[in-house]
Amino acid sequence: MIELTNLTKTYPGKTAVQSLNLTIPDGKIFGFLGPNGAGKSTTIKMMTGILPMDGGSIQLNGKDISKESIAAKKSIGYVPDRSDIFLRLKGIEYLNFIADVYDVPKEVRETKIPELTKQFGIYDALDDHIQTYSHGMKQKIVVSGVLLHDPDIWILDEPLTGLDPKSSYTLKEMMREHAEKGKIVFFSTHVLEVVEQLCDEVAIINQGKIQFQGNMKEMKQQFKEDDNLERLFLELTQNG
Ligand SMILES: Nc1ncnc2c1ncn2[C@@H]1O[C@H](COP(=O)(O)OP(=O)(O)O)[C@@H](O)[C@H]1O
Ligand SMILES: [Mg+2]
Repeated sequence: MIELTNLTKTYPGKTAVQSLNLTIPDGKIFGFLGPNGAGKSTTIKMMTGILPMDGGSIQLNGKDISKESIAAKKSIGYVPDRSDIFLRLKGIEYLNFIADVYDVPKEVRETKIPELTKQFGIYDALDDHIQTYSHGMKQKIVVSGVLLHDPDIWILDEPLTGLDPKSSYTLKEMMREHAEKGKIVFFSTHVLEVVEQLCDEVAIINQGKIQFQGNMKEMKQQFKEDDNLERLFLELTQNG
């Protein structure tokens, strides 16, 4: 379970996330939906310990990210919205580096690295530097890294943006399998359709505040009844 309590973040002159409360249960694909600039990436960066919070607390599987930061971080795999890290490494070096950090045994690497990278169509690029990869390929190598160490909680920031249809399909299938194992898949998107396809549960964020949390049926009902949500709905469909 993930619990965000009164989470707040202010950039100079701008409150990006304001007193945000969210409970994300196990065994679900949880969509974090909101237009560009809503505060999704800021929330995710706090959840992954990249950005310090100004207020509130975050529990990942019962571990407080501020107080037990290493233990909390061990349970998560993070795919950022832009993967501009480790550009000077070759794909294979990056995956071995991740495997080293998370103590993935040699036998597991030997089977899983070819398996995962073939599924994403980047196996033949493993000896190339990440610098030469397209956005989609960078995304796929980072996703492969996460799947390699197989953490309980997946946190994905706009994971389908820039992926080709086949890889997008593969990733969605993997997300479903992970949730079916009783684990958490938390991902952000600004595209309503993606949420409709994939999610069990959704939270809608706008201007740093949660506007709605519930299941898909409840979301549709709320859209009909609430003018503010209806306006937001139009924005989210147009952005797609
Ligand atoms: N490093 C930063 N410094 C100042 N403002 C920022 C910074 N990062 C994001 N913001 C602002 O905070 C708000 C939320 O941004 P972000 O969390 O990236 O939204 P989203 O991921 O939903 O598009 C936006 O108004 C954005 O311009
Ligand atoms: Mg973002």
